[in-house]
Amino acid sequence: MTEPWEKVVPYQQVPEGIGSLSAEHCGSCHQDHYAEWKLSTHANAWTDLKFQSELKKESSPSFCINCHIPLENQQEHIVLGMFDGDIYQPATIKNQRWDRKLQNEGITCAACHVRENAITGPTGTKKAPHKTIKDTKHLSESLCLNCHNATAVITPTLACSFETGDEWSAGPFKDEKNCIDCHMEQLERPFYLVMKQGRAAFIPFLVLEFQSILL
Ligand code: HEC
Ligand code: HEC
Ligand code: HEC
Ligand code: HEC
Ligand code: HEC
Repeated sequence: MTEPWEKVVPYQQVPEGIGSLSAEHCGSCHQDHYAEWKLSTHANAWTDLKFQSELKKESSPSFCINCHIPLENQQEHIVLGMFDGDIYQPATIKNQRWDRKLQNEGITCAACHVRENAITGPTGTKKAPHKTIKDTKHLSESLCLNCHNATAVITPTLACSFETGDEWSAGPFKDEKNCIDCHMEQLERPFYLVMKQGRAAFIPFLVLEFQSILL
């Protein structure tokens, strides 16, 4: 098991300073990001009926789920290995730390943004209430290609082939625009703050910086 999608992203603790890994919780502060994500296919990567019905077929091996719910926190069972190297005979144990709600969020915020128990972002800002690390290497097209460029023949009738990365590399945009430039176009977003248990989380620098504040 060497491909990125053959493995899970190891268990992540809730980063210091926030209450949960769920997209809904992230969305209590990052309201626009949440609204955009909620409409994306990524948010439905697990609940998608077409995916669920394919997954229930006997021909679908367990690693199907690693691109659709990539964090260990989201998976009900932990795969320790394969008996006789057979992908249809995984040795599993029950995941005691399984988070069912996070599973339903599919490719949730944390799937891309939480590593080493901290939030990864493009700036590593110190203004966040949560621990943040700058990681532009991770948040590059290589993140997308972990899942969007895989070819596997599983049985003579079951094959997976997404060559979006190779298509992009061979095309005219390779040195101009990557997946993120086109699919996550830059926007100016206001920053919203929420009332937390009657305590207004009002931080003046945010007003200056984002010029928009909602309570
Ligand atoms: C390498 C990562 C990866 C693995 C492993 C993977 N998928 Fe997917 N799956 C994707 C991506 C990426 C898409 C979207 C492809 C696109 O639209 O270009 C997708 C889309 C799908 C869809 C289409 C959903 C829809 O509504 O159109 C189904 C069904 C699906 N996958 C089932 C499976 C099954 C069954 C397996 C196991 C055999 C599996 N996937 C394994 C990455 C993966
Ligand atoms: C498929 C991966 C992916 C998912 C899912 C995802 N993001 Fe991101 N996010 C990125 C990438 C890549 C960047 C860096 C974009 C850039 O180059 O500036 C980013 C940037 C950001 C930024 C900083 C830049 C900005 O726009 O202010 C915030 C905040 C953010 N994401 C929050 C979220 C939240 C909240 C969710 C869930 C509701 C989420 N993201 C889901 C990949 C993802
Ligand atoms: C209590 C409010 C709050 C919650 C909850 C919250 N964030 Fe943030 N986040 C912030 C603030 C404030 C910033 C800093 C904005 C700035 O630097 O201008 C930030 C920054 C970020 C960034 C940018 C980091 C960088 O390096 O540029 C990302 C990505 C991000 N958050 C993702 C998340 C994710 C994912 C979650 C949920 C697991 C989450 N946040 C939960 C308030 C929050
Ligand atoms: C953890 C694996 C994973 C990562 C990382 C990932 N994707 Fe996806 N992506 C998927 C899966 C799975 C689907 C299909 C979900 C479904 O239809 O059930 C998908 C769907 C999409 C779609 C919509 C395809 C359609 O047919 O509607 C786009 C566009 C997309 N991803 C772009 C990106 C970009 C850009 C990045 C990098 C910032 C990225 N993805 C990162 C797994 C991933
Ligand atoms: C120059 C801009 C651009 C770049 C770069 C780009 N895309 Fe796209 N992508 C698009 C557009 C526009 C569409 C819609 C095409 C259509 O509907 O016919 C699309 C379609 C897709 C789809 C299918 C969506 C659907 O609805 O079926 C996926 C998945 C995807 N891109 C992923 C990626 C990934 C992964 C990368 C990086 C390797 C990437 N794209 C790079 C502009 C881009």
